[in-house]
Amino acid sequence: MSAQALLRVEDLTVSFRTEQGPVRVVEDVSFSVAAGKTMGLVGESGCGKSVTAQTIMRLLPSPPSNIEKGRILFAGEDLAQASRKTMQKIRGDRIGMVFQEPMTSLNPTLRIGEQIAEPLLLHRGKRHAEARGEVVRVLKQVGIGNAERRLLQYPHELSGGLRQRVMIAMSIICNPKLLIADEPTTALDVTIQAQIMELLKALQEDLGLAILLITHDLGMVAEMCETIAVMYAGRIVESGSTAQIFEKPQHPYTHGLLNSSPRRAKKGERLPSIPGLVPPPGMRDAGCSFAARCPRAAERCRVETPALLREGTRAAACWNPVP
Ligand SMILES: Nc1ncnc2c1ncn2[C@@H]1O[C@H](COP(=O)(O)OP(=O)(O)OP(=O)(O)O)[C@@H](O)[C@H]1O
Ligand code: SF4
Ligand SMILES: [Mg+2]
Repeated sequence: MSAQALLRVEDLTVSFRTEQGPVRVVEDVSFSVAAGKTMGLVGESGCGKSVTAQTIMRLLPSPPSNIEKGRILFAGEDLAQASRKTMQKIRGDRIGMVFQEPMTSLNPTLRIGEQIAEPLLLHRGKRHAEARGEVVRVLKQVGIGNAERRLLQYPHELSGGLRQRVMIAMSIICNPKLLIADEPTTALDVTIQAQIMELLKALQEDLGLAILLITHDLGMVAEMCETIAVMYAGRIVESGSTAQIFEKPQHPYTHGLLNSSPRRAKKGERLPSIPGLVPPPGMRDAGCSFAARCPRAAERCRVETPALLREGTRAAACWNPVP
């Protein structure tokens, strides 16, 4: 898989500067997203999924954030080392982004036609008049009918689902190779969620997009993703093909998430709860961070951090994996 990886994250470690000193929130994270495929990044709240995504896009101000180590290889270039100028060129052009709440990412004072055109003006040097045809085309592509009228509207005049379609239109107008979608449907009703996922799937097929999909919804992962990476307390604890992992999770955390029965994962449902809480950054002691919640924990687990060991196309970080 790594041969055609479009995005390869290697040993990424990110900390935040706090009054108590630097606190690591993402540690030794490695995964890859193949060209044209979807990878699901899942894990409970606070595990570091958004920090990972925002670090890939270099959206976090530094300080307080700091990439302590690691590489973010995108089409051969290390984004962890890229200049601000390079990142401005890549964001919105070769990598698109969609976030949970479109209202916070859209400018309330600009008509949606103007906003969708922005990446074209920025990255392709087009003028508004030239961009208009492209905007109409992309609105149709994301399933917004009556495009001519819609492009004159403001974000508050649209429903949540339409606003997310506008965000998607904006993120694909420059034909990116990679889309990073951080809980793109969480803020929407279940029926609208399904429509947005259908749209992303269709766009992936039509445009050959690779998608890094961050979600709490395992049913969505089952439907959308070829591969999956499970994150816990800042680390990837298990990764592999969706089929492999749903069929036979090796890490007790993944096992808990899948609730012993992969078929129970239905679209629209959030992660089932596992007793206990994710230890917050800065409170992660030596050993495996999951030990306090793990039914398989042994002595070694509390003293030695398990490394992510690769075996063929899958990997797990556990001293005592589920047999
Ligand atoms: N600017 C910051 N300064 C210090 N800590 C931060 C900062 N931003 C995020 N964190 C911490 O980093 C950790 C990971 O946060 P992140 O938003 O990546 O979690 P997440 O997996 O996306 O969770 P959710 O599923 O709720 O979106 C959290 O403990 C959070 O409090
Ligand atoms: S290393 Fe030990 S505590 Fe951690 S998940 Fe595996 S068995 Fe559980
Ligand atoms: Mg998040």
